[in-house]
Amino acid sequence: MFIPLLLIQFVPVNRENPPIDENLTLTAPPQIKSILKNSCYDCHSNETEWPFYSYIAPVSWLVSRDVKFGREDLNFSEWNKMTESKRNHKKEEIVEEISRDTMPMPIYLITHPSASLSNEEKLLLKNWLTGRD
Ligand code: HEC
Repeated sequence: MFIPLLLIQFVPVNRENPPIDENLTLTAPPQIKSILKNSCYDCHSNETEWPFYSYIAPVSWLVSRDVKFGREDLNFSEWNKMTESKRNHKKEEIVEEISRDTMPMPIYLITHPSASLSNEEKLLLKNWLTGRD
């Protein structure tokens, strides 16, 4: 039991933060951006803050996988790479996720309780996402 746990620490884990191109990052009012940064950017941007447990296998594999798939679906650091219609579609998806409380991922909130969205934050996000702000 002990030896395999030591051995799996040598399996390489991708914790890369790709470079940021300011021309591609999301532009939004500061209040909106700060909510998204606080609740979503660890998995949906190239500005991931890798927690200590992302250095300890096997948890590190799960964290790395969430960031990989999270970025593939939605990457605020590459927001402007998408066409306008794609961005509008993503906005609809975001409204859906936050309305159903499926994002931020519930498991993430255990270690990041302050990333939980308050009703007020959800309303601010929804108004901005639907162009009603
Ligand atoms: C702990 C990592 C993590 C955090 C934090 C997180 N997400 Fe995600 N998100 C994922 C992963 C992984 C996927 C892709 C797999 C899935 O759909 O579960 C995803 C998928 C999505 C999708 C696409 C869903 C679809 O229909 O395909 C949206 C939209 C989304 N997240 C929005 C958000 C928003 C908005 C926040 C912040 C309020 C957030 N996420 C926070 C990991 C995260």
